[in-house]
Amino acid sequence: MDQNEDDWLKDDVAGAEQAKQPPWNVLVVDDEPDIHQVTKLALANIDFLGRPLNIISSYTGAEALDILRQRNDIALILLDVVMESENAGLDLARTIREELQNHTVRIILRTGQPGVAPERQVIETYDINDYKAKTELTRDKLFTAVLGTLRSYNDIMTIEHQRSMLDANRRGLLKVIEASSTIFRQQSLLQFAQGVLEQLQALLFFEQEALYVVVQGGLTALTGHDGEIKVMYATGGYQPLCGQDLDNGELERFKDSIDQAIGQEHSIYAPDHFIGFFKSPHGPVNLLIIDGPVALSHPDTSLIELFCRNVSIAYENLMLSHEIEDTQRTIIYQLSEVIEHRSPDTGNHIHRMAEFSWLLAKALGLSDEEATIVRAASPLHDAGKVAIPDVVLNKPGPLTPEERKIMDRHAEIGYQIFKDARPRILKMAAMIAHEHHEQWNGHGYPQGLVGEAISLAGRIVALADVYDALSHARCYKKPWPQEEVLAAIRAGSGSQFDPAVVEAFFNVLPQIDEVRERFAENKPPQMDNPGQ
Ligand code: C2E
Ligand code: SIN
Ligand code: SIN
Ligand code: FE
Repeated sequence: MDQNEDDWLKDDVAGAEQAKQPPWNVLVVDDEPDIHQVTKLALANIDFLGRPLNIISSYTGAEALDILRQRNDIALILLDVVMESENAGLDLARTIREELQNHTVRIILRTGQPGVAPERQVIETYDINDYKAKTELTRDKLFTAVLGTLRSYNDIMTIEHQRSMLDANRRGLLKVIEASSTIFRQQSLLQFAQGVLEQLQALLFFEQEALYVVVQGGLTALTGHDGEIKVMYATGGYQPLCGQDLDNGELERFKDSIDQAIGQEHSIYAPDHFIGFFKSPHGPVNLLIIDGPVALSHPDTSLIELFCRNVSIAYENLMLSHEIEDTQRTIIYQLSEVIEHRSPDTGNHIHRMAEFSWLLAKALGLSDEEATIVRAASPLHDAGKVAIPDVVLNKPGPLTPEERKIMDRHAEIGYQIFKDARPRILKMAAMIAHEHHEQWNGHGYPQGLVGEAISLAGRIVALADVYDALSHARCYKKPWPQEEVLAAIRAGSGSQFDPAVVEAFFNVLPQIDEVRERFAENKPPQMDNPGQ
């Protein structure tokens, strides 16, 4: 037991010596100069957890408030109740908690009138931590009260610090996770950069401002004239530079370090800034610039190195998933073509379906990412037709009720084909295949879902499918004139179709027409190549 106690003491002493930490700031607010004197004397030469006390004096509530507005590092206030007014002390306490929203500073009330305690409710409301008559404030009692309250302040600050670290970490991590699951658009790279920055800030840098930049055009970018630096994400004063190309001039201060980082392919720790170097085998060079002194201990530097390596891998994965989903999309188009070509009259149908779905999704307010997935998946809506016999599928006239039953199974079959797939596009394809013949009023098939029980993607593709089927020839029907097609769509609003989807359709009708032109039936089937 002695042994343990000794160790504990040694640790404590060592910890105290090692820490060259700021003092505990104690604000004494009292209109009687004597009280300041006595307090200073009583608290002279005290330290707590290796940190000395710094006594700050103010003589009115108003003066104290000025100090508190200017600094947020006051740990404890020894507060007189009656000063320039009867309630100056309590008013100050209320202002601190309610107006300044300072909930961390500890408050010990001191009153010259023993026995006149403020109401319990006031003490609770303003989080007043102790209450003493001035006559009670012997050196011992003051000492005990102050140390006890500083201890609770220290606990609060530790918790606050951990909480803010945790929040920042979690936010940063969330962004990285979000980014690694958002694939298609440049925006996801921006999100990614933001996540990286927030992570590092949470880990290491609290005060400094930072920029996360991408160096385009290879490793001589900064020394040559043709290189470009694009700011992916920035904090504080650098924020306006977000998304901008940055002249080399604007980074002049960091130029040598940046060159060095790029030359050595290594992060640079300079006295008044830090340049983090991230490079993935196939991506561009990414730099993290921290503006301001960065004091890094050895564990910190290895942490950064580790973090940089992870970032490179994450970035690589991000680029890779771009590629994977590109591949998926290509495969899906080819797959859809194979499926559709079993029924020869639906040449460009799937391309139009994809584009219509995109237009409707965007008009309905879906994000680029969601709309992209719907677009990529919609060509598979009729994949279940692979299982429908040719005699039914390509029958040149109306179907008998038995044939119709067989035909209708394509929705369920399509769903079965994709339902266990892992890629998001195929999961979406399963849902669309399942739901594209559902109707808003519940009269569709195979499940007879009603209204919003049908996924938005299902409702979108349902309309796109019928619009395209009516507009073009099928083995069992002629194309309808556009006015009649539009009239049918309008008539179906609220019964067959979601009214919101119909409205969206008419809002983007010019673009719909344009897609119809671009992928007209007399043109050869095209691959997804909107640029041409
Ligand atoms: P599809 O030809 O791609 O048609 C898709 C949807 O467009 C149809 O879903 C239906 O909602 C709408 N549609 C197509 N043509 C007409 C039409 O002349 N009048 C009206 N009011 N709506 C039309 P639906 O009915 O569930 O049919 C699903 C699929 O079943 C069709 O896909 C087609 O492959 C097949 N099918 C439907 N009716 C016949 C038919 O009479 N003969 C043949 N051979 N196949 C048919
Ligand atoms: C207090 O409010 O006085 C104590 C709260 C704490 O220590 O967490
Ligand atoms: C999506 O969220 O990507 C489409 C909306 C839906 O299917 O509900
Ligand atoms: Fe279908």
